[in-house]
Amino acid sequence: MSEPALVALRGASFAYEDGPAVLSGLDFDIREGRALALLGRNGSGKTTLMRLLSGGLRPNEGRLTVGGQPVTYDRKGLTRLRTTVQLVVQDPDDQLFAASVEQDVSFGPLNLGLPDGEVRARVAEALAALDITALADRPTHLLSYGQRKRTAIAGAVAMRPRVLILDEPTAGLDPDGQERLLTTLDGLRDAGTTVVMATHDVDLALRWADDAALLTPSGVRTGPAPVALARTDLLREAGLRLPWGAAVTDLLRAQGLLTGSAPGPRTADELAALATERLGASGR
Ligand SMILES: Nc1ncnc2c1ncn2[C@@H]1O[C@H](COP(=O)(O)OP(=O)(O)OP(=O)(O)O)[C@@H](O)[C@H]1O
Ligand SMILES: [Mg+2]
Repeated sequence: MSEPALVALRGASFAYEDGPAVLSGLDFDIREGRALALLGRNGSGKTTLMRLLSGGLRPNEGRLTVGGQPVTYDRKGLTRLRTTVQLVVQDPDDQLFAASVEQDVSFGPLNLGLPDGEVRARVAEALAALDITALADRPTHLLSYGQRKRTAIAGAVAMRPRVLILDEPTAGLDPDGQERLLTTLDGLRDAGTTVVMATHDVDLALRWADDAALLTPSGVRTGPAPVALARTDLLREAGLRLPWGAAVTDLLRAQGLLTGSAPGPRTADELAALATERLGASGR
């Protein structure tokens, strides 16, 4: 039997004031230690779902539980939720507000009433994790977009959440910035943080995630990333294309170059390694 979900929505429905239902009767799980990619077309409700999971919005129906306990939406309940689940919104300018990087990253831990030494330790740790220690004293309004994104993530990391939810964290980053961010996220995962990200990048999701959740008009479908992201029917419903790696895997299987349960390549490097192995094995 699989572990119970750390964070779970059950039967959740949500509509913005005077708007149509964005999500209805939704069940959604965040399982500890499983990197989860959330995908779906523009307007499908990814951001809304992330705000429901982090307590910024409250479901009209259904409920949110953390560790099996229902979340209460009073000050104490929300503080408890935010020490477990942290959301980083897509646009860093919606999140950053303090004058300097260090002040911004300190805000959450200070708000928890932690002693100064503890705050300093957490801020130093978060700045190091995001590779922005050198920017500590920099005014936030002078940062580049990628630096602002890192600062916003550092602010969430300084809360030492068990679950870090990132809304399109790689959008707007250059290729090197994307790679550095993925390396950072790997470090956080290794340190025990469960990471959830919304993305439109199916190739990135296949490469990065353990599980993929596809928001479709008929509900959310979740499964192991290589399985969910090979379902052309679901992908089409979610307004997505087949990831490059899944297309190559289909081709390799059709040609008999991949057999049984052997996993397909998720990156160009993995394809190159596979090709070397096959060509080597066939003596060419
Ligand atoms: N504050 C709001 N007030 C009213 N309607 C909203 C609000 N925010 C989002 N919506 C609507 O809710 C629906 C879901 O929006 P949401 O932002 O969750 O989608 P999304 O999947 O994150 O889209 P995208 O890929 O464009 O970021 C959309 O129809 C949107 O217009
Ligand atoms: Mg969104």
